[in-house]
Amino acid sequence: MKIVITGGAGFIGSHITDRMQAEGHELLVVDDLSSGFRENIPASVPLVEDSFASDNALQQISVFQPDVVIHAAAQISVRKSMEDPAFDAEVNVKSILKMLNVLQSQQSIRPHLVFISTGGAMYGDTDQVPTAESAPILPESLYGLHKRFGELYFDFYYRVSGLPYTVLRLGNVYGPRQNPHGEAGVVAIFSEKLLRGEPCTIFGDGLQTRDFVYVGDVVEAVALTTAAAASGNAKIGTYNVGTGEEVTVKHLFELMKETAGSSSELVFAPGRPGEQKRSAIDASAIASAINWNPRESLPSGIKLTIEWFGERGKN
Ligand SMILES: NC(=O)c1ccc[n+]([C@@H]2O[C@H](COP(=O)([O-])OP(=O)(O)OC[C@H]3O[C@@H](n4cnc5c(N)ncnc54)[C@H](O)[C@@H]3O)[C@@H](O)[C@H]2O)c1
Repeated sequence: MKIVITGGAGFIGSHITDRMQAEGHELLVVDDLSSGFRENIPASVPLVEDSFASDNALQQISVFQPDVVIHAAAQISVRKSMEDPAFDAEVNVKSILKMLNVLQSQQSIRPHLVFISTGGAMYGDTDQVPTAESAPILPESLYGLHKRFGELYFDFYYRVSGLPYTVLRLGNVYGPRQNPHGEAGVVAIFSEKLLRGEPCTIFGDGLQTRDFVYVGDVVEAVALTTAAAASGNAKIGTYNVGTGEEVTVKHLFELMKETAGSSSELVFAPGRPGEQKRSAIDASAIASAINWNPRESLPSGIKLTIEWFGERGKN
């Protein structure tokens, strides 16, 4: 198949790129490298280094004639979405609208669209934990709200123009290659600090919970979705991709500290706007739809991640 991966040079996108290349698909990555890296993906994979909504990128996507477009490019910082809502909306709303409008106008292509959305920031604070897709959408951040707007555009263009789509709402993804220098990705941030013996900061009381899902499991969900599209059995709709388990950030720190054999201390700082208290998502719908289940346990995923950061630190 011919597959476009936007954001394919980022953390999650590059793992998707690796998997799709290993499966023998013909790829086109579109990434402006605002938070991704060329080195994240094999040199043999063609990269359009531009915004996915640029005329240049959209023209190259049209010429490529993809069977599947995996849209993983995004502004991913919750904090930035609160500080600069217009920028978040530019990338996570307006640019998606532009991309979909161009794709639906190309009558010669009808790719299956896979939108990488968020489960962690979608539902907001709720007592329904783990939270199913049918729960009210009450995001605490503009990042979550704008991701919802994106989902609605995918649904709109399916209903009105027949562009098939699957939305995958991910939990808190962690694993090798996550960028520890943004403020998203607590596992990446802690990994680097623990290995250096530096203090780790928790914003809030540490009792906030998250659903930590290993990147390899997320890639499996994307690969199963893509395979279903190839065989004409694509599932249209919206699916949570998470473990369903609530883990406190404090417990995460303790597990990681022990795994790394680190002497780092824990420091507490005031909580930040846009952060919800509890988050875990119910993935039983995707288990029924395409037989996806998370395989990596938290201790083993954490071990793999810390080992990767340890190796990287030596280079
Ligand atoms: N990391 C998580 O825990 C998590 C959880 C839920 C959803 N997601 C979603 O997964 C996707 C990937 O996130 P990630 O964690 O890998 O972050 P990331 O920052 O590593 O990846 C995003 C990629 O998109 C690229 N990009 C950003 N704006 C672009 C634009 N306008 N045009 C082209 N490329 C652009 C960046 O350069 C980067 O390579 C995002 O859509 C994010 O919202 C991530």
